[in-house]
Amino acid sequence: MVSRIIPVDEFDLVIFGATGDLAHRKILPGLYRRYVAGQIPASAQIIGAARTKQDDKAFREEARAAIREFAGKGDDLSQIDDFLNHLGYVAIDARGSDGWAELKSRIRPGVVHAFYFSVAPALFGDIAQRLAENGIADQHSRIVVEKPFGRDLATARDLNATLARHFAENQIYRIDHYLGKETVQNLMAVRFANMLFEPLWNAQYVDHVQITVAETVGVGGRGEYYDHSGAIRDMVQNHMMQLLCLIAMEPPYHFDPDAVRDEKLKVIRALEPLEPGDIVRGQYRGSPDGSDYLKDAENPDSRTESYVALKVNIANWRWTGTPFYLRTGKKLRARTSEIVVTFKAPPHSIFDESDGPRSNQLVIKLQPNEGMDLTVMIKEPGPGGMRLVQVPLDMSFADALGANGTDMPDAYERLIMDVIRGNQTLFMRGDEVEAAWAWTDPIIAEWEAGSKRPEPYDAGSSGPEEALRLLHRDNRRWREIRP
Ligand code: BG6
Repeated sequence: MVSRIIPVDEFDLVIFGATGDLAHRKILPGLYRRYVAGQIPASAQIIGAARTKQDDKAFREEARAAIREFAGKGDDLSQIDDFLNHLGYVAIDARGSDGWAELKSRIRPGVVHAFYFSVAPALFGDIAQRLAENGIADQHSRIVVEKPFGRDLATARDLNATLARHFAENQIYRIDHYLGKETVQNLMAVRFANMLFEPLWNAQYVDHVQITVAETVGVGGRGEYYDHSGAIRDMVQNHMMQLLCLIAMEPPYHFDPDAVRDEKLKVIRALEPLEPGDIVRGQYRGSPDGSDYLKDAENPDSRTESYVALKVNIANWRWTGTPFYLRTGKKLRARTSEIVVTFKAPPHSIFDESDGPRSNQLVIKLQPNEGMDLTVMIKEPGPGGMRLVQVPLDMSFADALGANGTDMPDAYERLIMDVIRGNQTLFMRGDEVEAAWAWTDPIIAEWEAGSKRPEPYDAGSSGPEEALRLLHRDNRRWREIRP
């Protein structure tokens, strides 16, 4: 199946922090792929802005190297020269006056203006203010901001207030790149474009839900940032929370930005406060392969968690009685993100099964190998008695859609194009971010007030033993972490 490419309107996109890691790894290669796909209009302008003094030509060479380094395996690199013609560069001082007049002179009237703040959050306010003061941004412009969006409720509120001084909510695009992932959006399609699951999607039929985001990488290289965040701030407050919302929310009345975000917000507000026994923190330490969080974080006394598992309850009509178990961690056995919805077992079995009827499971695989599995019971083939066997009805999206995996757009590609289109559905609204912090703040405060250390676990394992007990005590078990 060939995906439909609808070119976006003419635009000028300014990337603040264009010489940084995110621009190199994600933004520039993502824009290039959209260019190759034919989605970038002929006169689109992409202007890099950063402190480094260099000209357009030098920035184009920098972009060429970044695209080469971070392009996907199957990417066609033959159009890089043409793409680079769209790029320009302005050296700018985010906290001073240098460069702003030049930036203004480069921005064309009558096209979409988007400003991507790929910089430290401490600079968001300065850049927003200068864009407004210098008449570069107006009420039609859009700004894109990256996570971390604050480190608690108070700082998130300040950030929202700072941005609100110069931009309206419908101009602010807060990125959570998980929302740009193909399968994450598929959660909404599966739930709201099919009749099959929705009648069963509640506490009466769903026993529990597991959401796992497991990574094999450690925190080496970004230990300082990570050690001030930990898994709760880095993954739970944002990415995991978004997955939880999409799984648990009520059907929005329309696939429209505010309708979707209103429903997500209701889920966050319905989260029960966590009991201390419903959370397990882990840290990879003293692993046989030498991996050690304390070394990676360069902090021998660190109590920051590189793994967390939570049991979450949603207090509303649909979900009371169905726990949601969340876990995420670094240096685990495999890189895999998936959501498992385990349905209740049939109330009565007419078959003589020694181990009783087994539950259906819907496994939604977010990465790698996006797809869905639904386990069903069937008769074991062959003569003889009526024996049952559980088999997966496997659907890999790549096979079904004819895409070879590499054709699936990266989250950033899709999200940047949504900014140009002016579609905020896949971006977090300010009140959503604040509600998520309001829920995580007490969890973090309680931990910081204590003196416990996170449970140790070995690199390459499934996390700390304690996390297994979180489910065992409820007579449940985690699905194995495997690629
Ligand atoms: C980022 C976190 O937001 O998401 C990282 O800061 C994490 O710590 C990353 O590794 C995971 O993203 P993905 O797309 O690789 O699952």
